[in-house]
Amino acid sequence: MQNDQAIGIFDSGIGGTSIWSAIHQLLPNEKTIYLADSINAPYGQKSKEEIIALSIKNTEFLLALNCKLIVIACNTATTNAIKELRTLYNVPFIGIEPAIKPAVTKSKTQIIGILATQGTLNSELFHNTTEKYHDTKIIEQVGHGLVQLIEKGDIDSNEMTQLLHSYLDPMIEANIDCLVLGCSHYPYLIPQIRMILPAHIQIIDSGAAVAKQTQKVLREIVGFAPENLSLPIFYTNTNPKVLNEILEGKYKVEYQSF
Ligand code: SIN
Repeated sequence: MQNDQAIGIFDSGIGGTSIWSAIHQLLPNEKTIYLADSINAPYGQKSKEEIIALSIKNTEFLLALNCKLIVIACNTATTNAIKELRTLYNVPFIGIEPAIKPAVTKSKTQIIGILATQGTLNSELFHNTTEKYHDTKIIEQVGHGLVQLIEKGDIDSNEMTQLLHSYLDPMIEANIDCLVLGCSHYPYLIPQIRMILPAHIQIIDSGAAVAKQTQKVLREIVGFAPENLSLPIFYTNTNPKVLNEILEGKYKVEYQSF
């Protein structure tokens, strides 16, 4: 089945480009449109109602651009809003959830850590997932302040290193052997996190799994691009500087107020 429409991807900001990148690598022929709702970042401290309203606004924007499926490249928006979006729209939605299952499967100590936003850790979807694994101790930590620093481009700052130490040192002491990154912004912190964690602790994020699921939905439901249509477009509702930097100036980034 062939379909020349774009894959729409949205996030509360620039972090979901880690998911976009995994999709673009696996599906290089696909046209992709990325929406960074940076003016409203972070979503992690907002109420469920606010997160649903923002997710509807982002979806409408992408559907107006004729997207064939929508990837919610934000854990907080997925865990709080995917159910509502699926009831409101006919287009397929692919969400991103913390990779608890792969971490539980890989863990030898049966103690794993998860770093995520308050909105993700409080969500019903997250509780339903963790309830399945009562033999594993799951240490939850809210990454207060991390998304804000990433959105400002302060990835390598001292403040970032200090915050990461305060969140990760207790997990190391608790003997975790897997750390789940439960926020699409956090893969940009992997180099810093790697410097803090002992080598035996694995870091697990969800990018590859989301890309595979996108491929499956294209194959089974909406169809692949008939030829190479890849011309990624990125929209942001704040100054495009940080988004441009994170994309190394390689792609078209447009400012749009929405
Ligand atoms: C946020 O907007 O708070 C972070 C995005 C995420 O949860 O992936």
